[in-house]
Amino acid sequence: MNKAAHSPELEVVVAVAADIDVVAARRQGRILAEQLGFSASEATLVATAISELARNIVLYAGTGEIVVGRVDGGERFGVVIVARDSGPGITDIKLAISQGYSTSGGLGLGLPGVRRIMDEFEIDSEPGHGTTVRVIKWQRL
Ligand SMILES: Nc1ncnc2c1ncn2[C@@H]1O[C@H](COP(=O)(O)OP(=O)(O)OP(=O)(O)O)[C@@H](O)[C@H]1O
Ligand SMILES: [Mg+2]
Repeated sequence: MNKAAHSPELEVVVAVAADIDVVAARRQGRILAEQLGFSASEATLVATAISELARNIVLYAGTGEIVVGRVDGGERFGVVIVARDSGPGITDIKLAISQGYSTSGGLGLGLPGVRRIMDEFEIDSEPGHGTTVRVIKWQRL
């Protein structure tokens, strides 16, 4: 295992308020995933998930943040992405994560896609208070 994989302090926080921040968050996520020893293709999946979550922040909440870090799972470690905002929230989470559901005329593939490409997926949302999405990709052993 490389040295970075043992550094629990590895964490990046990116404030998200515009499209340019989506690009920055995506890039930071890829760099961190690669530092942690993930393959280039896995790092691309991590970057894609960040990009979808950050795009949702800009589109639905206006502002928020993306935190990317290392998470310890005992035998293995992973990369965790937390996307948080204080926007309008999601009333029906089950509907929001179903393929093809969109309130913005989009494809409705963002959340279901993120769920599919990551190993763990959690949404916590309270209408009127905001949304937090937490996803993890574990290192392959
Ligand atoms: N951070 C958020 N705050 C409030 N609502 C959200 C948030 N993220 C997603 N949603 C809601 O969940 C729906 C589904 O999101 P998803 O990313 O899957 O699709 P989309 O953004 O509509 O389209 P696509 O991502 O394919 O361009 C959105 O249309 C929106 O109603
Ligand atoms: Mg989306």
